[in-house]
Amino acid sequence: MSQSPRALAPVTQDAMASFAHCDNPRLAEVMALLVKHLHAFVVQAQLSKEEWMQGLQFLTACAAITDEERNEFSLLSDVLGISSMVDVVSQPVGGTSSSVLGPFHNHDSQLQPNGVDLTHGQAGERTWLHGRVVDVQGKPIANSQIDFWQNADNGLYPAQDPAQDPHNLRCKIHCDADGGFELLTIRPHPYTVPTDGPVGAMLAAAKRNIWRPAHYHVIVSAPGYVGLVTELFPAGSAYIDNDTVFGVREGLIVDFKPCQNAEVAKRYHLQAPFYEVQFEFCLVEQALQ
Ligand code: BEZ
Ligand code: FE
Repeated sequence: MSQSPRALAPVTQDAMASFAHCDNPRLAEVMALLVKHLHAFVVQAQLSKEEWMQGLQFLTACAAITDEERNEFSLLSDVLGISSMVDVVSQPVGGTSSSVLGPFHNHDSQLQPNGVDLTHGQAGERTWLHGRVVDVQGKPIANSQIDFWQNADNGLYPAQDPAQDPHNLRCKIHCDADGGFELLTIRPHPYTVPTDGPVGAMLAAAKRNIWRPAHYHVIVSAPGYVGLVTELFPAGSAYIDNDTVFGVREGLIVDFKPCQNAEVAKRYHLQAPFYEVQFEFCLVEQALQ
């Protein structure tokens, strides 16, 4: 027979209070709230001992597959929508929406000249990506930086595909004095999150979609501004309404427009039409946060 919530309440109260003497008040607050909501989950789900043991075995399997290269806990956070909820609650007011970082960012990405051609003869639909970095008043931010990465025409990132150079389709760029940036790249493709671990088994058991819509990853930064980790999604991409990590936000969906610009075609040795994507990234001043 299950116990009434009233009978369980003292356990929750005691467990929450056990953090009250922590020297770090924020840690005390977060831990007490975590206990409160985990206890409520146990009560509401009427969790059995076997189910809790399965949950612990699942977390143990996540730990076993996690190393420097692969973090199954990040993936779990992503597919449960927790990474996206953290994005939403930590989003400064007025800036471009943030979105998930994902596992394929490379801190050692190379600085390239503004206007770089990242395509190097590889397959893929040529896309001229350009725009500006501005503040919440629309004023250009000089000295801003773009860190860009995406998957190749086969849907894979370099870490998943030994045939690719580790720096393929990724770069850092310093924007010009008007916050302007541009580069030539290819159209990205939908791709599945890694499914060879316990999170993949959980998605299969739940009969969940494993695909992400096509996307570009971008980190935008500038001294004195809150850094932005975000993504751009081609309008109409498959899975745009069913992203398995819940990263799509309305303001991050962009049109891939056919472009005939002769000057750009000449500069990049392109045959028109190619695709054009234009986007303005808006950063919030740290002081305004
Ligand atoms: C990605 O965008 O590459 C990604 C994001 C979250 C989890 C797995 C992959
Ligand atoms: Fe990605």
